[in-house]
Amino acid sequence: MNPTGPVDERRASDDLVRAIALTTQFGDRIVLDGVDVAIRRGEVFVVMGPSGCGKTTLLRHLCGLLPPTIGSVSVAGHDLYSASPELLHHLRLRTGMSFQGGALLGSLSVLENVALPLRENTDLPEAVILATARMKLDMVGLLHAAHLLPSSLSGGMKKRAAIARAIALDPDIVYFDEPSAGLDPITAAEVDNVITKLNKVFGITMVVVTHDLPSAHAIADRIVVLLDGKVAALGERDRVWHDPNPRLRDFIERRLRAEDSRGMDVIQHLEA
Ligand SMILES: Nc1ncnc2c1ncn2[C@@H]1O[C@H](COP(=O)(O)OP(=O)(O)OP(=O)(O)O)[C@@H](O)[C@H]1O
Ligand SMILES: [Mg+2]
Repeated sequence: MNPTGPVDERRASDDLVRAIALTTQFGDRIVLDGVDVAIRRGEVFVVMGPSGCGKTTLLRHLCGLLPPTIGSVSVAGHDLYSASPELLHHLRLRTGMSFQGGALLGSLSVLENVALPLRENTDLPEAVILATARMKLDMVGLLHAAHLLPSSLSGGMKKRAAIARAIALDPDIVYFDEPSAGLDPITAAEVDNVITKLNKVFGITMVVVTHDLPSAHAIADRIVVLLDGKVAALGERDRVWHDPNPRLRDFIERRLRAEDSRGMDVIQHLEA
């Protein structure tokens, strides 16, 4: 698929984040090799690809944590890696992250975990901090668990608490790395619902790395598939899903067969 084809033509101002020619070299190894992606305001953008293909690395480049070896990332028109420390700090505050294995602090209640970014980055009065943290927990359906310690939460509740923490500062965009990893299909679908709700109801732009095809299908507006360090497909969900490129068919169909019963719904969608 050609990412610059007619379907992807649009006004530059629709793009919140643009990455151009991203190349990542770790030692002798090229992980990403000339990756171009643009995240549009208000969309759910899903990143897929085999394990080790560079999905987490791409996310780290996009959110300002890792400068690419070659290439550039701009956020709202500002070049991320040449920004002044003040601008970088500002852009980071507008960005939420919920990373692979990103744990909640075990010694703090769920409410205090969500309040933490507000305490660290604002001088809001205590009552406003607590009210805001409660509101975020309510947005992910966890208000009832506000005073629990993370150790007493189920896997799905932990993920939702991490999402509440990622949206504590009202970010424009949130990056999720494998939000449904390790969850059973029903709990994974609950996390998908939270992501969809935050996007559709609150307009937060979402970038989600997942290897879970049913999740990808449920939440994505657009999808990028990375294979061998390059963009193998990029576009609207259904277009990528039906892309005839044999390498892509192989990736998608092999993954679907490896999925649990939720994969069947997606196979039916594929065949429809
Ligand atoms: N800081 C680093 N130094 C050296 N190599 C790294 C570093 N970070 C990642 N890599 C390597 O880059 C490759 C891509 O890693 P990355 O974590 O981005 O993959 P991924 O697609 O997220 O995989 P997974 O699906 O397993 O999470 C891997 O081979 C990894 O070992
Ligand atoms: Mg990863």
